[in-house]
Amino acid sequence: MKAQRIDGKQISDQIKEEAAQEASALREKGIVPCLAVVLVGNDPASAVYVNNKKKACEKVGIVSRSYELPEDTEENALLQLIEELNMDKSVHGILVQLPLPPQINEKKVILAIDAQKDVDCFHPFNVGLVQTGEKGFLPCTPAGVLELIERSGYTISGKRCVVIGRSHNVGKPIAMLLLQKNGTVTICHSKTQDLTGICKEADILVSAVGKLHTVTADMVKPGAVVIDVGINRNEDGKLCGDVDFDAVSEVAGAISPVPGGVGLMTVAMLMKNCITAAKLQNHIVS
Ligand code: GUN
Repeated sequence: MKAQRIDGKQISDQIKEEAAQEASALREKGIVPCLAVVLVGNDPASAVYVNNKKKACEKVGIVSRSYELPEDTEENALLQLIEELNMDKSVHGILVQLPLPPQINEKKVILAIDAQKDVDCFHPFNVGLVQTGEKGFLPCTPAGVLELIERSGYTISGKRCVVIGRSHNVGKPIAMLLLQKNGTVTICHSKTQDLTGICKEADILVSAVGKLHTVTADMVKPGAVVIDVGINRNEDGKLCGDVDFDAVSEVAGAISPVPGGVGLMTVAMLMKNCITAAKLQNHIVS
């Protein structure tokens, strides 16, 4: 039987609609949610991502302020801009698109962002809050993965969850959020032995590697929920995930496509974080 196709477009539209309602309620209180979007250099993929984020802001009713800096920007110039945005009370969220050019230290930049404006949830303070399960920002892509699973009607509690990939911003926080939802979580990586055997036990399988053909049909338990976080190009330049979509669809119970899956969710969750930021800075609890 063919797997259910998890519809990232529909779910992300729903989340953006919820954010739009919250944005409208904030505006009624005289608060205009505002995101500063900082892009350094000419990376074509980053330019596309940033554009998508700005378009989403417009749709939701969040003001986006754009800062485009040249490729040869010095670290101090970027740090100074961040300091100005930190001080600016009309700016609630600061997003510095990664990767940054090599002369700029990414860690230093992330640390410089006021934790209350860190809508990416990359600052170590916010990473710590995610670890302890406290309220605040959630990392956008990991939170998007959870929403895809739950809003498609699948329960995480008690399920065997396998995450392939252990990056700081994606694989690790996905595993942490699945754990908080009471999943039994295993993280696999490049040194994992018997990857196929471990994946085959998963009720929920998440691939966050960034490599074509990471998940093949023989690695998937019949009926499993498969979430593809990879964004890759195949030999023909076509956008593809980590999962062999057609073959895995014949085995899995549900599968998220690329494009049309997690990517859209990242942007939707960013919108939610912008609303959270505007509330936090105005001492509105929810
Ligand atoms: N580059 C790739 N994904 C992301 C993201 O979610 N946030 C930022 N700031 N940069 C990225």
